[in-house]
Amino acid sequence: MKSLQEKILKEGSVSGSDILKVDSFLNHQIDIRFLNEIGKEFKERFKEDKVDKILTIEASGIGIASIASQYFENVPVVFAKKVESKNLDKEVYETKVYSFTKGKEYTVRVSKKYLNKGENILVVDDFLANGRAVLGLNNIINQSGANLVGVGIVIEKGFQEGRKVLEDEGIRVESLAIVESIQDGKVVFK
Ligand code: G4P
Ligand code: NA
Ligand code: NA
Repeated sequence: MKSLQEKILKEGSVSGSDILKVDSFLNHQIDIRFLNEIGKEFKERFKEDKVDKILTIEASGIGIASIASQYFENVPVVFAKKVESKNLDKEVYETKVYSFTKGKEYTVRVSKKYLNKGENILVVDDFLANGRAVLGLNNIINQSGANLVGVGIVIEKGFQEGRKVLEDEGIRVESLAIVESIQDGKVVFK
């Protein structure tokens, strides 16, 4: 997605050797007009597929999924929760996710009420790094008996193993921008 590459070059910045910061439009301030373009592009990529629900993970995935859902006949958006809440139903699907970026393991959970057998689920998220968050969501989808249609990612870091990890599981990955490398603080696209 050309406009996304341009936006990353214009507004993004590099932190350390492998972190791309896009706080001005995706991870802190949110550019709604631009998220609409992203939502339309996800619909274009998955227009042949039946999608009953969009699943994401808090926090940054929620805005992306919510805007995208409007281009998928307003299907519901469900987000996996990272924080244990007293109010969350006791009946949950849960799984552990190890984050290499953060160097720690965390648990994600979705109430059994909101994922059902036979539903077709599109997963969306902001970044694909090592793929562990999406693998966790796939695990939860499998527990529920729903089907994973595919994964829509805004920015894939092509120099990390996420795509391989997911494709090895037979998961279809559609990324709107793929960063091939970060060299001397500069972003290079595939
Ligand atoms: P993985 O799921 O692909 O294995 O990713 P990993 O655990 O390594 O990433 C942990 C968090 O860091 C995720 O956000 C992910 O979106 C984010 N992340 C990874 N690489 C980058 C990057 O280059 N730039 C930015 N901006 N974020 C990156 P999270 O913990 O789920 O937090 P949230 O932002 O969704 O709340
Ligand atoms: Na994320
Ligand atoms: Na993030």
